[in-house]
Amino acid sequence: MQNPQVSSIRHVELAVPDLKAATDFYSVVWGLRPVASDAPGQLLRAAGGEHHILRLVEGPTAQLRGAGFAAPDAATVHALHARAASFGVKIRSAPHQLPAGLGGGFGFVLETPDGLPLTISSDMQPVAGNLELSGVPHKLAHVVINSADVDSQFSFFCDTLGFKLSDSNGRLEFIRCNADHHSVALARATGMSLNHMAFELPDIENLMQASGRVKLRGHELDWGVGRHGPGNNVFSYFVDPMGFVAEFTTEVQQIDEASHVPQDAEYWSTAVIRPCRWGMAMSPSPRARKAMAGDYQNQLLTQASCDELIARKLS
Ligand SMILES: [Fe+2]
Repeated sequence: MQNPQVSSIRHVELAVPDLKAATDFYSVVWGLRPVASDAPGQLLRAAGGEHHILRLVEGPTAQLRGAGFAAPDAATVHALHARAASFGVKIRSAPHQLPAGLGGGFGFVLETPDGLPLTISSDMQPVAGNLELSGVPHKLAHVVINSADVDSQFSFFCDTLGFKLSDSNGRLEFIRCNADHHSVALARATGMSLNHMAFELPDIENLMQASGRVKLRGHELDWGVGRHGPGNNVFSYFVDPMGFVAEFTTEVQQIDEASHVPQDAEYWSTAVIRPCRWGMAMSPSPRARKAMAGDYQNQLLTQASCDELIARKLS
């Protein structure tokens, strides 16, 4: 098989210091649905067909613990495994049947050069159909990973997993594994951490409903609503109670492989208004900028004030 590649992003895994608080936020506030499982931690699904898009596990500090990517079939899993081995990538497990409690399927686990575990899998259990709910994300759109060595991460994702460059703005490399402009972006930082994760809504109406729900629950909007340059996607960003940055997004640019030409930092510094094509959104809030750099300020102690805010807004 020539140049095997992953076909989509499935899930992101986070360690959180308070599993119940994190689960409450990503279900009641963010709109995901808990998945019954005997696996440690809490799995949450979106309205689309993926078994789960977020796994939360209890840990001493907020931390990015891993991510999962789909392969189209078992043959591609084997081919990606062989390719990773040939590049000397650290492999945690050879292809095998994955635990049913995590959606099953066939896959293996490898590490990025920064030591982040990635699960590559095919044939996961289908879920019981799409949910027809407004203001509920239907899939994980992308994950942005900080690194002190973006060049190594870029080579790993492209050479080993088959990603392609969509655009670069100098600070971030936007890479794709399907028609979506990016399923991963690599951000220059002081070390490996989660910059942010994005959850896709079907349209702007649903994005506004979702964003309004989060605001009504007492959480301030930290960036947006706006439209990005690279990717052309509409965005709204919040800092969650654990300190992670989570984005709602929609209208992600669909790449035409035959005609797409990646643009560089010089292009993006002049081609569109920054940081929002509409000129609507200014810079992210200071706390969001810190969190995007991997400095997670735990907001759990402010829950009482959040409850007070909710009561005030609903009265
Ligand atoms: Fe994003």
